[in-house]
Amino acid sequence: MALITTKEMFDKALKDDYAVGAFNVNNMEIIQGIVEAAGEENAPLILQVSAGARKYAKSAYLTKLVEAAIIDTGVDVALHLDHGEDFEICKQCIDDGFTSVMIDGSKYPFEENIALTKKVVDYAHAHGVVVEAELGKLAGVEDNIKVDARSATFTDPDEAAEFVERTGVDSLAIAIGTSHGAYKFKGEPYLDYERLKQIHNLIPDTPLVLHGASTVLKEFVDRCNQYGGSIPGAQGVPEEMIREAVKWGICKVNIDTDLRLAMTAEIRRVLMENPAEFDPRKYLGPGRDAIKKMVQHKIKNVLNASNKR
Ligand code: G3H
Ligand code: 13P
Ligand code: ZN
Repeated sequence: MALITTKEMFDKALKDDYAVGAFNVNNMEIIQGIVEAAGEENAPLILQVSAGARKYAKSAYLTKLVEAAIIDTGVDVALHLDHGEDFEICKQCIDDGFTSVMIDGSKYPFEENIALTKKVVDYAHAHGVVVEAELGKLAGVEDNIKVDARSATFTDPDEAAEFVERTGVDSLAIAIGTSHGAYKFKGEPYLDYERLKQIHNLIPDTPLVLHGASTVLKEFVDRCNQYGGSIPGAQGVPEEMIREAVKWGICKVNIDTDLRLAMTAEIRRVLMENPAEFDPRKYLGPGRDAIKKMVQHKIKNVLNASNKR
């Protein structure tokens, strides 16, 4: 049992029709719920930490909590930096013991993204750490991208091939229609599978990553709203669309919003049903259980990753 890189997990996932779940972590209960779920499903696991999570919980706490979860459950975990925005944060995480980092240069022009990514790859590989990069821009739902404008923001397949060749990056996050958060599509959900297939055909050995992949289960949104919340109009990526993407080189599926919704819905329920309760364990515990149940569902029914460890 150890902190491991994603290398072996992705090699195996690429040859099969399943993906590894990459779940964002911010505190102890979230880590425990996810790792217990992966343990019971005997599934490969990536825990990822954003800059916001590092700021909220402090990197040392999260790293130590992940190490404790590994000792407690015997589950191997890849510890990954999510959306690293510059070389410095990637270096810091590598020096702190992360086994994987993302350098997100997607906001820069192609050549600048290549140069930044290559610099991180050189440092990471020298330290036994793997790197995810991003090419193309994830749409915000507010962008409401028109069909003819998609090629301007979605990942260009030829550029993807050149990018991987020139940077030596280990995995690539691509833009094919998903976006972050609970409001992903204004109209019908749409993912550009043709583009995904073209990318996968050009770089068949490169694990592809799908950000913004929460399915925003109605069950949790409804429960939040039933117990005093107001989350109108939330819409995620339908589960069957994730299952389809997984067949075409998507090896890593990023999930954060679903964790937030599952935990918050349960905490809302407990507090509304027990207004006199003020022991944090009495609501954080059920919140942790809700995360575990949701992650098990994902691993089994959406990622097809049960027993793939
Ligand atoms: O992609 C973004 C992740 O959901 C992390 O969100 O920056 O609020 O921690 P955060
Ligand atoms: P969601 O907001 O769909 O959960 O996406 C999370 C993500 O991509 C983290 O990098
Ligand atoms: Zn993301």
